[in-house]
Amino acid sequence: MTQDELKALVGQAALAYVQPGSIVGVGTGSTVNCFIDALAGIKDRIVGAVSSSERSSERLRAHGIAVLDSNAVDSIPVYVDGADEIDHHGFMIKGGGAALTREKIVADIAKSFICIADESKLVDTLGRFPVPVEVIPMAAAQIARRLRALGGDARLRVGVVTDNGCSILDVHGMALIDPMAMEREINQWPGVVSVGIFARHRAGVCLLGTAQGVKTLTF
Ligand code: A5P
Repeated sequence: MTQDELKALVGQAALAYVQPGSIVGVGTGSTVNCFIDALAGIKDRIVGAVSSSERSSERLRAHGIAVLDSNAVDSIPVYVDGADEIDHHGFMIKGGGAALTREKIVADIAKSFICIADESKLVDTLGRFPVPVEVIPMAAAQIARRLRALGGDARLRVGVVTDNGCSILDVHGMALIDPMAMEREINQWPGVVSVGIFARHRAGVCLLGTAQGVKTLTF
């Protein structure tokens, strides 16, 4: 199976977690695009979606799925999103698509996080994928210095402005031995909007697309 076929497979499999009559939390990325396309097939059975990016909102609306304001929603049973890396504890690196902050916000509102990913995303230790950090532009150089002091090589993602009007630093070479501690540390620096380490908001379930079909990992 190709990577695209694996993405389609897990996008479809995630429908099993969507509760009838509910509001669905929707992530961002190529795997989530497959989920959105699958969701269109059951759109009459859901109230609508809370989306984590302008891109996903556009795709949802194009399918006739209502996109609700996150501030108008008290709780969401399930948030479905992809990952750049996921480990065997459900900890993830996210933000390759620059949507990490809104992804974390929707994940925070949701009761459970269902990660959908092809098997190339499953790793023993997080950190081969550069860790994205969304920053307020005037703090970028200072945050890059702080990241360097932690052993990371932070590079500005040139030409990218997030949906929140901010910049992205991609941090190479970070040893994520303790993702929870690293997330907490980086989050508190002035000018950090959010860091793409999803430890506190880790996945509860991962639907992993493999050559043998969808494997369900629970954490
Ligand atoms: C978006 O900012 C990311 O967090 C995505 O969820 C992640 O990059 C996975 O994307 P793909 O499904 O395109 O690999």
